[in-house]
Amino acid sequence: MTENKTFYITTPIYYPSGKLHLGSTYTTIACDVLARYKRLMGYDTFYLTGLDEHGQKIQQRAEAAGLDPKSYLDPMADEVKRLWALLDINYDKFIRTTDSYHEEAVQKIFEKLLAQGDIYLGKYEGWYSVSDEEFFTESQLAEVYRDTDGNVIGGMAPSGHEVEKVEEESYFFRMSKYADWLLEYYEEHPTFIQPEIRKNEMVNTFIKPGLEDLAVSRTTFTWGIPIKSNPKHVIYVWLDALFNYITALGYGTDDDSLYQKFWPGVNMVGKDILRFHTIYWPIFLHALGLEAPTQVFGHGWYQVDGRKMSKSFGNVVYAEPLVARYGLDPYRYYILRAMPFGNDGNFTAENYIDRINFDLANDLGNLLNRTVAMINKYNAGKIEKGEASEFDVSLAEVAQTSLNNYHAAMDKFEFSVALSEIWTLISRTNKYIDETAPWQLAKAEEDKAKLNNVLYHLVANLRVVAALLQPYMHATSEKIFAQLGLIETQIELEGLEMDYDFVNPVVAKGEPIFPRLDVEEEVAYIKSTMDSDSDGAAKVEWKPEEVDLNLTKDEIKFEDFEKIEIKIAEVIAVEKVEGSDKLLKFRLDAGDSENRQILSGIAKFYPKEQELVGKKLQIVANLKPRKMMKKYWSQGMILSTESPDGQLRVCEVDASVPNGSLIG
Ligand code: MSP
Repeated sequence: MTENKTFYITTPIYYPSGKLHLGSTYTTIACDVLARYKRLMGYDTFYLTGLDEHGQKIQQRAEAAGLDPKSYLDPMADEVKRLWALLDINYDKFIRTTDSYHEEAVQKIFEKLLAQGDIYLGKYEGWYSVSDEEFFTESQLAEVYRDTDGNVIGGMAPSGHEVEKVEEESYFFRMSKYADWLLEYYEEHPTFIQPEIRKNEMVNTFIKPGLEDLAVSRTTFTWGIPIKSNPKHVIYVWLDALFNYITALGYGTDDDSLYQKFWPGVNMVGKDILRFHTIYWPIFLHALGLEAPTQVFGHGWYQVDGRKMSKSFGNVVYAEPLVARYGLDPYRYYILRAMPFGNDGNFTAENYIDRINFDLANDLGNLLNRTVAMINKYNAGKIEKGEASEFDVSLAEVAQTSLNNYHAAMDKFEFSVALSEIWTLISRTNKYIDETAPWQLAKAEEDKAKLNNVLYHLVANLRVVAALLQPYMHATSEKIFAQLGLIETQIELEGLEMDYDFVNPVVAKGEPIFPRLDVEEEVAYIKSTMDSDSDGAAKVEWKPEEVDLNLTKDEIKFEDFEKIEIKIAEVIAVEKVEGSDKLLKFRLDAGDSENRQILSGIAKFYPKEQELVGKKLQIVANLKPRKMMKKYWSQGMILSTESPDGQLRVCEVDASVPNGSLIG
């Protein structure tokens, strides 16, 4: 192992504000796969994960549970550790930001930044989202709420979470001073932010419009690391949290040898927190004279059944029940196979079961079963290589290409691509069985050597398949190694070759590694586990901010809505339009200088159109007049509703509302 062959990978540290779901297990498994891969490639690897335990959100959660924060947090931390044990996450360190070494190091860092003038005392006036633990200026809000006098009384962060007004003394970090440096840094380190498209978003949305100084302390709650020189302030939770990546390695403590060895490393995060990791984080580090991470990778989000996971939709997926019923390896496989890393993707119960049935039971499971059964039947379990045939040449080509592509994909964190390369090799090997038809070769004694050679190639390929699968599902790999008669329980991936001299026979009788599942039954099972806590009890909590508004069009801003003038109009007369079976021609009193005319395509739904006379309807009054059927002006639009069965009804209002009244 050479001195500089080290690899450091981190997950975000999760807020222990609730039970961790599929989303958090996604990043953690991805990092675990990467760490295992690098270890098998001969890297000295360090894998860090942990919890982000300070901040207003945690304080509120603890209060809601009637506990002090630490009593709330300790069982949560135990639960998270149990989850990682269940998912076989092989981390090297689990940091909690309430660990004293971390708190002390962050205090020192803060004082240093203060002493060198990067942090100064000021007053913060603006908006704060407790859910995101993030500050916003009014212009950064996705929506603002106003009272009747037009004063802003609240708003919504881009994440959809409510913000609250904050006005307090606060320390600020001089972000603005480092904006140019950061842009240059991006230029000089083109792979710092991955995937590439996310870099443009950071530059155009956040840096180019001007980086504002960042508030880095709070005084209106207490659950945080106190500032040494002014303890009525607690350190902003994001400054505290980001530094975990180096305090965990001993930075700022008596022994920083791990920091010296492993930093800088790779920070793996979700796209929603990329801004903190690619703007504030490298700037904080640079201000301290430290190196930025080698890379920040912002992966996409898992949705479930096409929607954001939320208890109110009843679609929150947890790992525990899936692992309990189908085992761990299908979960680890599915989560990285089902969506390209970096993109958003969708979990569905059907897809989960299909992947187990097709990829694992059929493709991989059958290849192993057939191979083991044939070797026992035709050659008493012995593996003997013979002379290469024409089929072997083509098989070897595909195998070598898959192997190369697999490594290339792993280097780029393209997990789903790496897996599909393994499946290319599996399918090609299955095809090789059909091409070579061992059952035919078995019929003639003179084909014995050919037959054995075919069987050798099946085992050789399966050995490589299982080796490449190790970072993803090492228990399955071990089972395959055992069935193939290998004594190794682990195979190094560095220098892995297709050719291999087998000494032991395959096992006498192989066990199927993945049973086939009944789709309907299992889909029903998975659905029954969604939105439930560990005891399986349904917990539906109404959170207005998480309600899917079921829109068919994009959202509009209030200013856009204000452009539309909706009025009450009384039907004075109505008649069918000659030459059209859809249109009715209305004469309406909308409080204008005279009656106006509107054509509306509702004839089919009002066969007795005269019933409409005297009704008060709603119209869009300022829609640009247009000519219909080449001769009739239509001066607005009558609002109608469409029920799911396609029936249209006009929107009536009470007869007491005066004609021409504005709606808004
Ligand atoms: N505590 C901060 C991170 C501090 S790191 C110095 C935080 N915690 S979090 O628990 O809210 O989120 C942690 C990670 O989970 C984020 O990277 C987020 O993107 C990820 N995910 C949350 N839901 C997710 C999905 N549905 N799918 C994929 N990842 C998701 O932010």
